[in-house]
Amino acid sequence: MHVIVFLIKENVLKIFITGASGFIGGSIAAHLARAGHTVRGLIRNPDHSAELQRLGIEPVIGTLDDRALLSAEAQAADAVINAASSDHEGAVKALIDGLAGSGKTFLHTSGSSIVGDASGGEAGQARIYHEDALPEPTADKAARVAIDQLVLDAAQQNIRSAVLCNTLIYGHGAVPGSASVQLPRLVRQAQESGVVRHVGSGGNIWSNVFIDDVAELYRLALDKTPGGTFYFVESGEASFRDMSAAIARAMKLGAPQDWPLEEAQKEWGYEMASYGLGSNSRVRGERARKLLGWQPKRTSVIDWIEHDMLSPERTSSAA
Ligand SMILES: NC(=O)c1ccc[n+]([C@@H]2O[C@H](COP(=O)([O-])OP(=O)(O)OC[C@H]3O[C@@H](n4cnc5c(N)ncnc54)[C@H](OP(=O)(O)O)[C@@H]3O)[C@@H](O)[C@H]2O)c1
Repeated sequence: MHVIVFLIKENVLKIFITGASGFIGGSIAAHLARAGHTVRGLIRNPDHSAELQRLGIEPVIGTLDDRALLSAEAQAADAVINAASSDHEGAVKALIDGLAGSGKTFLHTSGSSIVGDASGGEAGQARIYHEDALPEPTADKAARVAIDQLVLDAAQQNIRSAVLCNTLIYGHGAVPGSASVQLPRLVRQAQESGVVRHVGSGGNIWSNVFIDDVAELYRLALDKTPGGTFYFVESGEASFRDMSAAIARAMKLGAPQDWPLEEAQKEWGYEMASYGLGSNSRVRGERARKLLGWQPKRTSVIDWIEHDMLSPERTSSAA
């Protein structure tokens, strides 16, 4: 009896991605290159070129302010991913200009501090937000939300656009030396002072997601997202008190300490202390699972901190 094996080869796409030397962009780009796509990645420092090429990514040297370059790359690509910045309006407009009328996919990376309540590290009301009922943004977050809206509205110009609003991302990035935004700051402060600290009492809660699951979600979205779709990207949540306690255990330090917001702002700055580390940002993302069939593999940031954050082979890019 003959067994006939059908090999369904995925559509090979030419993808242009910004932030290719970064934590999110580099990890997505490497994942897409591994999946067989042709990936061109924007970097502003040519020193990253060799590392990108090793990961199968073709470097494009430039910045988010190079409007003509971004539009031309978008025009030449089959799909575009913006992973360099959630806050650069000019780059988003340039990419949309290059894609207008094409029917191509445009994935924009946003962040769930857009619903952050700046509670000073306290649990507060800790409301949970859903994709179909987003709140009005605070003054601090209005500009980021306006960029998200630009991307969603681009669907009216025949662009298959989507906003992937990521929560706290943990894990090791594909590009050596790249690091996420929140946990590495807690770790660095602890390395320097010998004490793990969280903002306020650390009762504030953030939704979170593992970087490899993020990269797979972007791959699925390239293939299947309906235009004009907003996604929350999450697969779990934890309080900062629990995360800092896990960091202390992993680093073999004493119990974490509370830190008044004003002190934390001196260390991490206003935005990072008030929102990135000192707010609640609790969201539920149903669309990635329903529309794209996304199945995140990792769901416990505490488990990752305790068992993998300081794993010997990737200690240099901790968290
Ligand atoms: N990590 C998270 O948990 C998370 C969650 C939600 C949203 N976000 C947002 O997503 C964005 C990317 O985050 P990330 O964690 O991947 O940060 P990252 O590791 O700092 O990566 C950003 C990358 O973009 C590049 N870049 C930044 N500004 C640029 C410019 N003007 N021109 C050209 N390239 C530029 C950087 O290049 P260089 O290497 O030259 O600096 C870097 O490679 C940020 O806006 C962040 O706030 C992050």
